[in-house]
Parts: sequence; structure tokens; C-alpha cells
Amino acid sequence: MTALRDDLEKLKGEGLFELQGLETSDDLEAFRHRWLGRRDGRLSAVLQSLPGLAPEERKEIGRLANELKALLETSLSEKTKTLDDARVSAELARSAVDLSLPGSPLPRGGLHPLTRVMEEITDAFLRLGFNLAEGPEIETDDNNFTALNHPPDHPARDAHDTFYLKDFKDEAGRPLLLRTHTSPVQIRHLRAHKPPLYIVAPGRVFRHENADATHSHVFHQVEGLAVDTDISLADLKGALGLFAETVFGRGVNVRFRPSYFPFVEPGAEVDISCTLCRGRGCRVCKQTGWVEMLGAGLVHPNVLRAVDLDPDKWSGYAFGIGVERVAMFKYGVDDLRLFLENDRRFLEQFS
Ligand code: FA5
Repeated sequence: MTALRDDLEKLKGEGLFELQGLETSDDLEAFRHRWLGRRDGRLSAVLQSLPGLAPEERKEIGRLANELKALLETSLSEKTKTLDDARVSAELARSAVDLSLPGSPLPRGGLHPLTRVMEEITDAFLRLGFNLAEGPEIETDDNNFTALNHPPDHPARDAHDTFYLKDFKDEAGRPLLLRTHTSPVQIRHLRAHKPPLYIVAPGRVFRHENADATHSHVFHQVEGLAVDTDISLADLKGALGLFAETVFGRGVNVRFRPSYFPFVEPGAEVDISCTLCRGRGCRVCKQTGWVEMLGAGLVHPNVLRAVDLDPDKWSGYAFGIGVERVAMFKYGVDDLRLFLENDRRFLEQFS
């Protein structure tokens, strides 16, 4: 009797100890089988030995065995609950959302500084009542040169180092080319629309020339063209003055220097006073106090004739603004190649 009682006491210690060390629901299930299984559980072995005992003994050991069974069952369900609670808490901790935390910032894209500047220049003229026009980057020799008063073999063609598409020809059998300026949009527009007309045409242009701090083979221009009756140089000066003020702010001066472009007469290169040094001279304006921004002039009568307009009736002005130069000046950047290298450390400063 004492031996059986000791055995039960030992089983109790062993069972509770084993239960303590279990960690998974599979462990618990195995424990249930091993200890409480009807046929071969460790407790049923004890219960199966009861019929061989004396009645007094059977009663006492039966009671103790049932108590132990109940204890193990309770401990097992407590352990199951503890493990379940721990699992749920761990799950919650892993997926917890703290709604009071600030959101993680999403990387935001921004417009390229050249796109911004090009839009700003274009908008300045749209606000003056100009319309937006566009032309293709692959052009005919006629639109890029001939109709713009550069007859074949005219030396001014050499000023534009041109990329030709030698395998692609226009209707006249001349090779197509990458436009060297946005001025061919003037011809396309004048051929498709009747004056009076006021247009602004932003776009990309290409020249086969050496790249340096102020020159690139691919760059951008914004072309402007006004054709109406009685257009004078004063209208051109007025429009460009307003453009300079809108893009660079009040107090900026505009200077016209006589220059030659075959498609205008008179022609001018237009400088803007350096707002970075207020005309005193600095690195960006190369100590001159002025920065060249664009070419301009009154539309040459030959251009009007090329598009079947009577130069005695119609007159006009045109200009072509270098977008990279405006951006350099506006942002105080002394090498335009920086705008074209796609270095995010540089570009992110503008967003
Ligand atoms: C022209 O391209 C003329 N079509 C402009 C024009 C239009 C004159 C209408 C008269 C009437 P030019 O080659 O000077 O002109 O270029 C105009 C502007 O483009 C320059 O003032 C300069 O700001 C910019 N530019 C010229 N070449 C480059 C280059 N390689 N890289 C970056 N900008 C350039």
C-alpha cells in the first residue's frame, strides 16, 4: 500500500515536472496520450492494477489515482491556456500597429529642373496670350534651314553642326536631320495657320558640337513667334522684358546686341543682367555682369515669302531661348552638364 502510494506520489512529481517543460501544442497532445491515454496511458496502468488489490487498498489507491488524474488534467488545460495566451500575445506584438506613430515618408518624385524652367518660360508667354505649338525632333532640311532663309551652301549652315540621318531622306531626297534649333516650328506653324498668330514652342534640339560648361549636344530651347500687322522691335523688347521679369524677378535688365541669324532682320543676341552679382561681375556671368540667354529678331521677309505670306502686309518677331542657360543662371549652377547627368544628389535639391 505504502509502495503504491509512493509510486503515485512519484508519478505526480514526474508528470507535473514534465508538463512544466512543454512548449508546443504538439508536446501537450503527446503528453495527454502518454499520461492520460485510456489504454496505455501511465495512469491507466495504475488503474488497471486496482482489481488485484484488497478492497481497502483499492479504495484508497483508486481515490489517489483519480485525484492525480484530475490534477494532471487541470494542469494540462492550464498549461494549454498559458501557451495559447503566449502565442496570441507574441502574434499581436509582431503585428501591432501603433497608430500614434508618424507614417513613414514615401519617396516623392519631382519634375526635372530643366522641365520646370521650360514650363516656367512657356507659361510666361502663355499668360501674355501666346498659344502652345510643337514640332518633331527629326526634321527636314527645308524646315530646319532652307525655309528659314539658309539656302543650300549658305555658310550659316556650318554654324549648326548638324546630325544627319543618312539613311532617311525627305521628299526632295535630302537627308533628314535632328533639328538644330526650335525655329523649324515657326515654318510648320506658318504653313498650317493664318496670321495673326502668337506661338511659343518648347523642345529639345541637337548639335554635333563639343560639350563644355555652357554647351551640350542635346539641349532645350523655347521658340517664340509673333506674326501680325505692324509688329516692331518695340513689341519684341516688351515681350522679352516681361519674360525676364516673370522668370527672374523685378529689377532685371535686358540688353540687345546686334547679331546675325539668316531668318531675322535685324537680328540680336539678348543678354539678361546678372541677378546673382547685380551686375558687379561673378563666376556665372564671367565677370561681365551680363548673361547671354537667347537669339531674337524681326522675321526676315524671305521667311514670310517661303510660307506664302506677303511681307508688305505681315511682319513679325521671333526668339529662341536657351533653357539650360536660363536654368544655370536662375539656380546659380556654373556647369550645365550637371543638369544632364541624372545624379539624384544634384536633382533632389530642386524638388
Ligand atoms: C538659335 O538657335 C536660333 N534659332 C535662335 C533664334 C530664334 C534667333 C528666333 C532669332 C529668332 P543660337 O544658336 O544662338 O540661336 O541658340 C539660341 C540659344 O540657345 C543660345 O542663346 C543659348 O542660350 C542656347 N544654346 C545654343 N547652343 C547651345 C548649346 N550647345 N548648349 C546649350 N545651350 C545652347
